[in-house]
Amino acid sequence: MRLNQCQNFHDFRRMARQRLPGPIFNYIDGAADDETTYRRNTEAFEACDLVPDVLRGVENVDMSVTVMGQKLALPVYCSPTALQRLFHHDGERAVAAAAGKFGTMFGVSSLGTVSLEEARKISGGPQVYQFYFHKDRGLNRDMMARAKAAGVQVMMLTVDSITGGNRERDKRTGFAIPFRLNLAGIAQFAAKPAWAINYVTHERFRLPQLDGHVDMGGGAMSISRYFTDMLDPAMSWDDVAAMVREWGGQFCLKGIMSVEDAKRAVDIGCTGIVLSNHGGRQLDGSRSAFDQLAEIVDAVGDRIDVMMDGGVQRGTQVLKALALGAKAVGLGRYYLFPLAAAGRPGVERALELMRVEIERAMKLMGCKTVAELGRRQLRFR
Ligand code: LAC
Repeated sequence: MRLNQCQNFHDFRRMARQRLPGPIFNYIDGAADDETTYRRNTEAFEACDLVPDVLRGVENVDMSVTVMGQKLALPVYCSPTALQRLFHHDGERAVAAAAGKFGTMFGVSSLGTVSLEEARKISGGPQVYQFYFHKDRGLNRDMMARAKAAGVQVMMLTVDSITGGNRERDKRTGFAIPFRLNLAGIAQFAAKPAWAINYVTHERFRLPQLDGHVDMGGGAMSISRYFTDMLDPAMSWDDVAAMVREWGGQFCLKGIMSVEDAKRAVDIGCTGIVLSNHGGRQLDGSRSAFDQLAEIVDAVGDRIDVMMDGGVQRGTQVLKALALGAKAVGLGRYYLFPLAAAGRPGVERALELMRVEIERAMKLMGCKTVAELGRRQLRFR
């Protein structure tokens, strides 16, 4: 399978699966427990249909949106995701460059494999820094100061990962950092020698956001240990309120799902929330962000920027979320499979396909601007 044959999410996923060792593919592709939420995330978009207007003079379509004070040329952005250099040796560099080229926002994770400073130099697009709440309050402050100094525009605190989700595919392969593979996992790596050669011939794998804070002991600290030893499950609204004040800029919470919490996010001064179930990777059985969107927009949409992510594979799905009132929509696996398949050209092709799909769908809907999309053009079955 070749990049120019990839027309959609499923093609990129297939190409990534051919290239990646099984444990890595399954880390990206997998989710928690029975993966019901993961499946529901995409299915949820089928609960409603678009009702187009015609003859609206749509020769020029403006797809731009403003979210969290950032002007984006597209209503989609690349959500922060961990460990990108495991998927392709360019990792975050490829995503930062591609997002910049398309005039959109991208996130660098605390568990990123390229430094947030380097990503900032590569991309002309607005940058999000995703972080977790550490027991060590000094570390939290240092991370924010570092992001501020680098010119990061948006702080994004993940609030749905107080403990790790039950990823049974990872348990079966032994996927961990460092690899503590079981025999089945080792056999799967051996089956992809091209990936292995590529991995060992490029710069050493690092987690530069955590350098100086976490003793990786030559890579001895696993992600699950990071979560259990370093992160603070006692994190409270008061703690987050203090961080919002300390940051003093655009601050959003990723993983808000209830109306109650959305209101609290407004109360403590957040400027955005991302409705998300972490791609179905944390609480299985959790409602999809799309299903929950209207309720949240109705409650707080006039006071805070509401975004969503989870299961997005098509431009028409983005339009449905925008019509319900989302300010922008996050992509995760949608760009990770292309990254794994082909690096920067892969991410660029995926964003270009999405751009074309959104543009076409807006024309077919009779909308010249994103602001013209509303609930009037949506019917639930
Ligand atoms: C995951 C964490 C690292 O979903 O965000 O794997």
